[in-house]
Amino acid sequence: MKLVSGNSNRPLADAIAAYLELPLTKCVVRRFADMEIFVEVQDNVRGEDVFIIQSTSFPANDHMMELLIIIDALRRASARRITAVVPYFGYARQDRKPGPRTPISAKLVANLITRAGADRVMTLDLHAGQIQGFFDIPTDNLFAAPVMMRDVREQFGAKNTMVVSPDVGGVVRARGYAKRIGAPLAIVDKRRERAGESEVMNIIGDVKGKTCVLVDDIVDSGGTLCNAADALLEKGATDVSAYITHGVLSGGAVARIASSNLKQLVVTDSIQATEAVRVSRNIRVLSIAPLIGEAIGRTAAEKSVSSLFH
Ligand code: R5P
Repeated sequence: MKLVSGNSNRPLADAIAAYLELPLTKCVVRRFADMEIFVEVQDNVRGEDVFIIQSTSFPANDHMMELLIIIDALRRASARRITAVVPYFGYARQDRKPGPRTPISAKLVANLITRAGADRVMTLDLHAGQIQGFFDIPTDNLFAAPVMMRDVREQFGAKNTMVVSPDVGGVVRARGYAKRIGAPLAIVDKRRERAGESEVMNIIGDVKGKTCVLVDDIVDSGGTLCNAADALLEKGATDVSAYITHGVLSGGAVARIASSNLKQLVVTDSIQATEAVRVSRNIRVLSIAPLIGEAIGRTAAEKSVSSLFH
């Protein structure tokens, strides 16, 4: 078994390697002057079960291309089995046609990874579970919920806590989180009553006097989250925190969250934290390295990974 890291999240790859007590295989990823990517795997991988750790996070296209080229290099080096471990699967939000003449880019990306030569895929909290079906190779979609909810229990307990979905689309995920800690569920329902009028935030559920925990898969601009926090506080919530698996945090998101009414945002390290995230007053990062490390170890040993979901 071998572990190879791309450049998207070296600290996570190092932490996974430490968990598995296995050094990363030497793999040099360089650029030509015109920014073409060149890869050289410097250790023998012939006949090996190889796991490539690479999130397709910002800059998404570069990291995606890097992943595809590493897969190609490993395939040509006679690796026995190649697993693309993609903790954050970029392009997942493009999982359907929102209108005529638009792409389903998540399917295209799944095709690219498969055609490059991956035998398996391992990922975490896919934006939509059905993206698993975009691959015709075995695909494990791990859940950060056990790691996140352990932290919620330690921080708040379940007694006065309410799990909240920031939009109607996230209700199934939020219900799962609520069930895990035995807390009630509320939903933020954004609605534009009439064309041209601004959106109204309705809260389904009584959040008065509650410690609210917003849960979602992605925080990007932070808009969804900060608006939901304001609406919950307006309805009498005591305080609002958020647990979001993938901290995409584009543009001014970190500053927006710092100046928001959110008490705390907790993200995982599926995407490498920027310096702004590291020094932020109200963002904390939980590591999913042990979860992914364990899943890799079990996959290599042909053992079940489903018990990691509990
Ligand atoms: C949407 O369906 C996702 O689950 C997130 O709610 C969304 O991507 C968050 O985006 P933003 O932080 O830009 O509001």
